[in-house]
Amino acid sequence: MVLKTKLTEALGIKYPIIQGGMHFVGYAEMAAAVSNAGGLGTITALTVALPPNGADSLRKEIQKCKALTDKPFAVNLTLLPVGVAPDWDGIIKVIIEEKVKVCETAGRNPVEVIKRLKDAGIFVIHKCVAVRHAQAAARSGADMISMDGFDCGGHPGEEDVGNWVLLTQAALELNIPFVASGGCVTGSQLAAALALGAEGVNMGTAFMATVEAPIKDEIKQAMVQAKITDTTHIFRTLGNTERVYKNSAAKKVREIEAEFPGQFEKIQHLVKGDLYRKSFQETGNTDDSCWSCGQSIGLIKDIPTCKVFCDRVVADAEDIIRNRLQGLVSKL
Ligand SMILES: Cc1cc2nc3c(=O)[nH]c(=O)nc-3n(C[C@H](O)[C@H](O)[C@H](O)COP(=O)(O)O)c2cc1C
Repeated sequence: MVLKTKLTEALGIKYPIIQGGMHFVGYAEMAAAVSNAGGLGTITALTVALPPNGADSLRKEIQKCKALTDKPFAVNLTLLPVGVAPDWDGIIKVIIEEKVKVCETAGRNPVEVIKRLKDAGIFVIHKCVAVRHAQAAARSGADMISMDGFDCGGHPGEEDVGNWVLLTQAALELNIPFVASGGCVTGSQLAAALALGAEGVNMGTAFMATVEAPIKDEIKQAMVQAKITDTTHIFRTLGNTERVYKNSAAKKVREIEAEFPGQFEKIQHLVKGDLYRKSFQETGNTDDSCWSCGQSIGLIKDIPTCKVFCDRVVADAEDIIRNRLQGLVSKL
């Protein structure tokens, strides 16, 4: 049996699995490993193109990914507030000039960006946390939605709706195909997402705990040890909530936010992007920076290669659909 969905069909990929954009994880090596494993890997544009680097660093990363895989891959474009504004125009130009097949947009007001990408013939998957945002993206011409529930790593929004309800609402109200994003690690979750009407799953946290993820082993080991309650939210008082690993740095940020709600300057020194990058790329220190991860961290039990991981998720989903679910339907 082969799982065929609108996602696999539209992109010509083997498995209905996407690796979502991940700051300081979504480099060419990560994206290529997922695409070679049969899913859709994603390069995170801002990780490589934030000032002082600029859009040309993204061009190099895309070219590196093309050298590592002949399969389709995506570039993530995150439209959220950042300290020093990136060269959005240059970044979009590079994505178009390099003929990237798929773009995952995320964040606020993507209308103009989606239109520009669509005019260039790029398949746009817009990631968002509410059905009304998905409807707006559909009106702007997006091809698919990645519905990100409350359990997700990164930015779950401010409405706190879990995937069980959010995906059901998406199936009832959307006229555009969607994938389930947030909290997914297992084949049973892929099968459940398909049952709820999704065309596949988007995962971040799970791909951090793979052999090819370009982050320090100490971070991966901490993920294997973690419980489902080992994440927390920061930036809630700024209206830009982020789910991160519950460590000393995150607890400190929450204490300061409780005392000085909405005052970014009070926490800025604890949440600088470079601290996050250093933990992932240089020190492996799990405690001294705020790094994104989802509740699914507590479901991670090993560190497989991307291929072993994707094969396993799909084989388990197929087994559940074929044996458990079909077996439940009695033949009268
Ligand atoms: C370490 C990390 C960094 C992330 N960075 C981004 C980002 O820069 N842009 C973005 O759109 N999503 C980002 N995300 C969200 C993922 O793309 C994906 O939507 C999310 O991880 C799905 O939830 P899961 O982690 O429960 O699988 C990040 C997630 C993680 C775990």
